[in-house]
Amino acid sequence: RSSLSSRSSCPAVLRIQAMADKGMQGFLPPFKHFATNAIHAGQEPEQWRSGAVVPPISLSTTFKQRAPGEHAGYEYSRSGNPTRDCLEKAAAALDGAKYCLAYSSGLAALLNICHLVKAGDTVICMDDVYGGTNRYFQKVASENNLKVIFVDCTKPKCLEAAITPETKLVWLETPTNPMLKVIDIKACAEVVRRHPGVLLAVDNSFMSAYFQRPLSLGADISMYSATKYMNGHSDVLMGLVSVNRDDLYERLKFLQNSLGAVPSPFDCFLCNRGLKTLHIRMKLHFHNGLAVAKFLETHPRVEKVIYPGLPSHPQYEVTRKQCTGCPGMITFYIKGNVKNASAFLKNLKVFALAESLGGFESLAEHPAIMTHASVPEQERKALGISDTLIRLSVGLEDEEDLLQDLDQALKAAVSGEFPSKNNPHPAFPTG
Ligand SMILES: *Cc1c(COP(=O)(O)O)cnc(C)c1O
Ligand SMILES: *[C@@H]1O[C@H](CO)[C@@H](O)[C@H](O)[C@H]1NC(C)=O
Repeated sequence: RSSLSSRSSCPAVLRIQAMADKGMQGFLPPFKHFATNAIHAGQEPEQWRSGAVVPPISLSTTFKQRAPGEHAGYEYSRSGNPTRDCLEKAAAALDGAKYCLAYSSGLAALLNICHLVKAGDTVICMDDVYGGTNRYFQKVASENNLKVIFVDCTKPKCLEAAITPETKLVWLETPTNPMLKVIDIKACAEVVRRHPGVLLAVDNSFMSAYFQRPLSLGADISMYSATKYMNGHSDVLMGLVSVNRDDLYERLKFLQNSLGAVPSPFDCFLCNRGLKTLHIRMKLHFHNGLAVAKFLETHPRVEKVIYPGLPSHPQYEVTRKQCTGCPGMITFYIKGNVKNASAFLKNLKVFALAESLGGFESLAEHPAIMTHASVPEQERKALGISDTLIRLSVGLEDEEDLLQDLDQALKAAVSGEFPSKNNPHPAFPTG
């Protein structure tokens, strides 16, 4: 295809493309045909007798058979559903994968993947992972006779040293949450390849398929909490798992039906719809994220900013080598103590104080008190999750409104001003 075919003549789209190109300098070039696949893969109108361009929500739990065992591809909605099929095909295409399977949440996807290994096996997990992943490994899987060890996989040598004959699964998450450490997936895949029988899985929720494709970097399994960027509208809980290997697909498909943690057809419809704008959203998340990160880095009330898209990030080069860009996730330390952090969060007006991430709306949260409260204090300290650490999920609002909101809240955090009780939510700066 010529470069012309991927260019739009719409001025608004051109502006976004120009912004994205500027921001993406030095990163991996965008994946080819991504937008076309997002819009068309798995959505062929010819698959429906009606010719519906938008896949119908297929609510039926059961499907009529012509004769016993003779059916049109569907028997029972847990084992297969037409709306889920559309989502799975679209997501596979976006991940550059042969297959994708959908689950009722990101943690349900993790559970299914962990059923690929057996009692007595060892799982090596990155030492800084999503709180729910940490809880599942430490409080559930470990109780069921799975040995889980936590290793800093930003150093592939540490991973190499940790692998034993019992190791059957390596679980990576990059960038990590909330410290945004970046792991060199290719380097870890090379280590894992030297140990046949060990699976490499990557939680790709923070990057989305638009910025990072773990399978193309040597991973066996790419996993998403599609609740985050992939759906992107903060209205669906969803898990996605992509693989290229036929044997892994067959086993995971069997487990999807056997464990039963499948998403509803309505959620599949919504997530499938969310994917249609993934490329547009991610470009703008990157643009706004970079703007916010640069703004915070020069702000006198900010101690330190962690953003993989900034040259100050320790793994900036790895990020540019394996990603096509960066999402809107930023972590920073505010100057002062927990009171200043709290005052800052209470004074935000455009950013909502809430957990989760990856939606079109900007969110801010306090990891030590909110998302990572379950991590023991000693471990939190060791990871750097202090009382002044703040995590932002930068959304798709106007850049100037986001910067203005952060600026006023940072200033209020010094004067110790809290929003008054009578008017806890003053008008947005936009009026
Ligand atoms: C949210 C999240 C999960 C868990 O996904 P759910 O959809 O909430 O079950 C797993 N990994 C990461 C990185 C997440 O952000
Ligand atoms: C923290 O907030 C207090 C008011 O509660 C203020 O006096 C102090 O200067 C702030 N600290 C910093 C480093 O901004």
